[in-house]
Amino acid sequence: MLDGLTRLEYRGYDSAGVAIYSDGALKVAKAKGRLQVLSDLLEAGAAIHGTVGIGHTRWATHGAPSDINSHPQVSRSGKIAVVHNGIIENYSALKQFLESQGVPFTSETDTEVVAQLIEYFYDGDLLQAVGRVLHRIEGAYALGILCSDTPDQLIAVRRDSPLILGLGKGENFLASDVTAIIKHTRDVIYMDDGELAVLTRDGVQCYNHFLQPVDKEISHVDWEIDAAEKGGYEHFMFKEIMEQPEAVRRAIFPRIRDGEVVFEDFGLTDDYIREIRKIYIVACGSSYHVGMVGKYNLERILRIPVEVSLASEFRYREPIVDERTLVLVISQSGETLDTMAALREARRLGGKILSIVNVVGSSIARESDEVLYTWAGPEIAVATTKAYSTQLAVVDLLGLYFARRLGTMERAEYDQILQEMLLLPAQMEQVLERREDIQYYASQYFNHDSVFYIGRNLDYALGLEGSLKLKEISYIHSEAYASGELKHGTISLIEDGTLVVALATYGRLFEKAMSNVVEVKSRGADVLALTTESHRAEMAKLANGLVTIPDTNPMLLPSLGVIPMQLYAYYVALQRGCDIDKPRNLAKSVTVE
Ligand code: AGP
Repeated sequence: MLDGLTRLEYRGYDSAGVAIYSDGALKVAKAKGRLQVLSDLLEAGAAIHGTVGIGHTRWATHGAPSDINSHPQVSRSGKIAVVHNGIIENYSALKQFLESQGVPFTSETDTEVVAQLIEYFYDGDLLQAVGRVLHRIEGAYALGILCSDTPDQLIAVRRDSPLILGLGKGENFLASDVTAIIKHTRDVIYMDDGELAVLTRDGVQCYNHFLQPVDKEISHVDWEIDAAEKGGYEHFMFKEIMEQPEAVRRAIFPRIRDGEVVFEDFGLTDDYIREIRKIYIVACGSSYHVGMVGKYNLERILRIPVEVSLASEFRYREPIVDERTLVLVISQSGETLDTMAALREARRLGGKILSIVNVVGSSIARESDEVLYTWAGPEIAVATTKAYSTQLAVVDLLGLYFARRLGTMERAEYDQILQEMLLLPAQMEQVLERREDIQYYASQYFNHDSVFYIGRNLDYALGLEGSLKLKEISYIHSEAYASGELKHGTISLIEDGTLVVALATYGRLFEKAMSNVVEVKSRGADVLALTTESHRAEMAKLANGLVTIPDTNPMLLPSLGVIPMQLYAYYVALQRGCDIDKPRNLAKSVTVE
């Protein structure tokens, strides 16, 4: 269990705990801090013996990180233990009710309500008691439940928070991600919303919300355990940066055949594509930044209006969506709650949902009309890198696929872009080979406490991602601005020694980018610039530091340009001694609102 939790620590890491049935009772061990603290407490597992248990790494929502607030949460008698991902939204009313019935609470968590409520309804049949609780709790939850009266079974419950079941030989598992159990089995069941499961050593039975048995499909996971391990690298983030050429190759190459973009099992018909009047791109964080690049590229080549919306805004803004609106949902994890809610809102309004997702079988993938997988493999570092790159590649392929059907692109241009796409992995390798230059600049500028990223068009979209990478892992304040906006306010912040990262890869606007560099330099800024090989000489005359990427079709520039952005953030964070794979306050999949 500790090993499984290690692989899930990227999802949350402010405290951890286990409950194990041992010598006739539940033994619970919990500790604030990283998993290592719990592991030490348990003498790496030797301290408690047992063959059934539940474990959890927490990322506090209700109640500060503390030993008591860690999961498992246990009912008053100590009989029932619960681990929970998500939020019980009506916990306060339920807690008041239980307190009025004399139930004492020990923690500040919403999860304790679940444990206490199960015990309140429990009359010897655990499944029935859990069923009754589910009709009373509201919110998002994945639950693992263990009761000392029935130590041969575990109960799993899922609503709006990921949960999978792993089928082994003489052993079965529940987990929020395949990575936790891949060492033991590759046969998994993806639980659907509202489902429960009873796991014993010998089998797994799933039930619907009404506790009627349901048959579930067993899926086979085909990636290797090494994919979820560091493989000699110091950090997952660096490993994943280095894996990008291969990941992008996997995302692109099988989808270009005989000079055409091909999507297997793709249900969007040519007639439907010709009827699309608007495209919404909906996502969060870096996936949203992919959407920003997508907007510039898709509008230019398709001549269809494309609106990019943060999922957390989209869901509450009464968006204008109808059956001729294609809603492109982008998510690495496929479990981001805001993105999921936006997807459901778009579907309710009649839009067609096409998702671009990395995690196979994830909730977003399963609820979409069509899915294009990015095939990046497991991404463990909280800061996304290879998922971003593969999402970008798939959005570009999609644009080209649509352009062919809409006749909005000359055949020669289409052929040329496909050729350039096939060169991308090798060009990415070239950029990675020159990483020492970026490491050098990071060593020069790592102590600047405020950084501006400026660019226009695709370079602005790229700047958004560069800036997010820097702030999330190095804790340096940074902002990305569309360069043309500088003079409308931001330029007042530029003073002697302010670091400006000037993105100037987009050839059509290179001269304008140069003017912006002059503008900030004349106010004292130090400028680190990114441009293409063909503009190296000109930019070198102005910038304090310069990194170049190979020339390619403009549409593909962000795919190369993002690598120096990632490396810069990585090396700066390394210089500053930050915990790169597990930045403070962040979790890999954000399954709460
Ligand atoms: C990026 O480095 C982030 N950790 C974060 O912004 C992430 O992209 C966002 O939470 C969306 O996640 P998703 O792609 O899994 O939906």
